[in-house]
Amino acid sequence: MKRKAEAGSKKVMAGKAKVAVPPAYRNSPAKTESWRGNIDRLAWGGKGLGRTEDGRLLLLEAPLALFPGEVVEAEVQWKPRHGEGRVTRWVTKDPRRVEAACPVAEACGGCDLWEAGRHAPELKRQMVADLLRRQLGEAQAWTWHPAPDSARRHRIQLHWNGAALGYFRRNSHSMVPVNACPAAADSISQAIPRLQEALLGRMLSTRVGRWELSTGSPEGTVWATDERGRTWLLEPDGWHQSTEPIRHRLGEVTLLHESGAFFQVSPPWAAEAFGGVLKDWDLKGQTLYDLYGGVGLFSALLGQRFQQRVLVESGAAAVAWARRNLEAAGLPSECLVADVAEWVPEGLGVPGDVILLDPPRAGLEATLCERLNTAQTGTLVLVGCDGAAFCRDLKRLGEAWELKQLAVLDLFPHTVHVECVGLLSRRA
Ligand SMILES: C[S@@+](CC[C@H](N)C(=O)[O-])C[C@H]1O[C@@H](n2cnc3c(N)ncnc32)[C@H](O)[C@@H]1O
Repeated sequence: MKRKAEAGSKKVMAGKAKVAVPPAYRNSPAKTESWRGNIDRLAWGGKGLGRTEDGRLLLLEAPLALFPGEVVEAEVQWKPRHGEGRVTRWVTKDPRRVEAACPVAEACGGCDLWEAGRHAPELKRQMVADLLRRQLGEAQAWTWHPAPDSARRHRIQLHWNGAALGYFRRNSHSMVPVNACPAAADSISQAIPRLQEALLGRMLSTRVGRWELSTGSPEGTVWATDERGRTWLLEPDGWHQSTEPIRHRLGEVTLLHESGAFFQVSPPWAAEAFGGVLKDWDLKGQTLYDLYGGVGLFSALLGQRFQQRVLVESGAAAVAWARRNLEAAGLPSECLVADVAEWVPEGLGVPGDVILLDPPRAGLEATLCERLNTAQTGTLVLVGCDGAAFCRDLKRLGEAWELKQLAVLDLFPHTVHVECVGLLSRRA
């Protein structure tokens, strides 16, 4: 599709090079039009970037992965300066593209990269590279940590509609029935039909709603938790109600938490990846401030390297488990229920301390960054599962903190999501 460039196209300075910027379509039509063209590269979030003849940028979604260089047809909606849309047909396909190993890959909203097969990690690396180059500059060094094949989801959320179990459809609240999930640990995948059978047989509460299946230690143990937090343990003869916590044996430490609560999606791989990176960075010192600490994963991984540990987390149940987990690991810690943004005081810590922050997806509040810029600790570690929010926070912290190391971990295989970890030193 061709669009006419409007008169008045300007040239602006971007660094030293002059770049022609296409004019804005002020009364841009919102209607959908079709477009055919080449995917130039991948942007953060897995979107393919294309360009119209007049230089307008297009951001395109495809449910099963896009490879740079592929020629596609797409339905596009025009915004004032760019277009957004979704791929409807491939004109040419990259030879690396494979058939999705999941029968509901296209409809299900849980994964994004099935047709990239074993090349998915490389596509993700390219997306991350694009983001980091744009946000932090060409010169920023970083390390990439792809997931091993064994990294599967140890926690999945399913919906029961009264007749079947399934995932939400992509961009929708309607359901795709499933009876297995190749992205999940085998024990969980095999438990899906067992849960469905129990629900159909009215052995469990049949109320329409969400179910969580999770696994932990001993290996193969499966718990099912309903929306009200009631939990059943899967045994050979069926589901048995349980009040036992979920247990994860991760190397030398064991972490317990209540069912349905937050924990890493793939705990063994997360512990290995975080543990490896943080130990390589040789973090040690007086006090570790484990902020947004959950049930104590980072305190457990690093705690021995510090004389004291302070964990701050808003969930009271998680804090109670953190206290017990760290006590049991021989790492007694001060564990506090608080909102991190309210708790962090001006001038926190001394140079021998480390602040580690692992906030939810939205990242750090601006006021918290301002307070962290007054902290007296020598080191700060920032963990973030949304790369864009992570880069924004690095910039907000840039006044007082210098990024020394950056690692990107593929903790969420088959999806476009990654975990970023930055090591920052206090500026002189
Ligand atoms: C990404 S999780 C990290 C948990 C933990 N570090 C781990 O890896 O298991 C974020 C945690 O922050 C907690 N949280 C969310 N908002 C918070 C806030 N404003 N103050 C303190 N904790 C908060 C959540 O309950 C959750 O446990």
